[in-house]
Amino acid sequence: MATKKKQSVYSGIISKYRDWLPVKADTRIISLCEGRTPLIKLENIPKTLPAPVEIYVKFEGLNPTGSFKDRGMTMAVTQAVREGARAIICASTGNTSASAAAYAARAGIAAFVLIPEGKIALGKLAQAMMKGAVVIQIQGNFDDGMRLVKEVAKAAPVTIVNSINPYRLQGQKTAAFEIVDELGRAPDFHCLPVGNAGNISAYWTGYSEYAGMHTKACAFCTDSCVYGDRTAHISQRPKMLGYQASGAAPFLRGHMVDNTETVATAIRIGHPQSWDLAWAASRESGGWFAEFSDPEILRVQKLLAEREGIFCEPASAIAVAGAIQDIEQGRIPAGSVIACTLTGHGLKDPDTAIKQSSAPVLKVDAKLESVKKAILDNMK
Ligand code: F0G
Repeated sequence: MATKKKQSVYSGIISKYRDWLPVKADTRIISLCEGRTPLIKLENIPKTLPAPVEIYVKFEGLNPTGSFKDRGMTMAVTQAVREGARAIICASTGNTSASAAAYAARAGIAAFVLIPEGKIALGKLAQAMMKGAVVIQIQGNFDDGMRLVKEVAKAAPVTIVNSINPYRLQGQKTAAFEIVDELGRAPDFHCLPVGNAGNISAYWTGYSEYAGMHTKACAFCTDSCVYGDRTAHISQRPKMLGYQASGAAPFLRGHMVDNTETVATAIRIGHPQSWDLAWAASRESGGWFAEFSDPEILRVQKLLAEREGIFCEPASAIAVAGAIQDIEQGRIPAGSVIACTLTGHGLKDPDTAIKQSSAPVLKVDAKLESVKKAILDNMK
């Protein structure tokens, strides 16, 4: 009997994009096979829009811990371990803490996570706790946590794995590579939620590198580029569109804001750390920022679930809310190819989902007649 040829096993973004990442040949890679997330073409929502467009969603909720953070965390923890770190630390609105906990567990080092008390989704907290992180709830918000983490890292032997760690953005830029590899081109527009502003900066770096260029957002390309010369894979880069919740919209206000509030707790951030990089991405690409109220965010989260079968968390839905609005207002023209990053899975935040769901949960007797009646009464 002929033996089947063994396929090479996918082993994460560092192995896949090693030539594009600052990783030494002998480095031990800490990976959970992150990346290779699906790029799903929306079928039903575009039909309701005034202009014919192609909208693709990069479903980053399908990473190992349910968010895009894993792309950055594999790089940050790999480098931390290489440098001999025995503990990592982060401030988080939830997803970074879940990811840090997972990669620390994988590496066999400790993770300390600072989270705003009462303001992180249950699924995220459960992940950090299960994976053995030391969870430190602070009576403050993410911005307070970030300030404390920076201070404590000067006084204790812990490596910061927030996106101010340059290795984080390096890992996250691989999502742009995947999109181009799959589409065979860059999209015309790239829409994504903006909180701490690392991800928009990372995507811009990724697209720029694939266009044979270097950006300010790449900490490894400043004086002498670690990668040397690149041949361009793409001739044009997308316009980067960043969306924020109205209650936490420093890029719309033009300055840092205090007292943030939004149902999209993942992006409840008033003092984004990658402020300059995100502005550079927006300006260099010819993009813009826009904001959405909580009811608008939740409406689009539900729309994606009901019309496309895709369940993302509230913060992620803002990317599609932005695309829809910009198409309706004509800022995104007919014929455009649009990519939206769905940054996190809907299962991260079941409370918010159940609270706003209008789907009937029927209670009936355990009898054929009752079940049949429930079906016939509720046919679409
Ligand atoms: N979407 C989700 C689901 C997030 O968790 C975050 C950030 C963002 C979008 C915004 O990305 O910060 O790169 O602009 N979450 C961080 C955390 C802050 O702690 O999990 P960004």
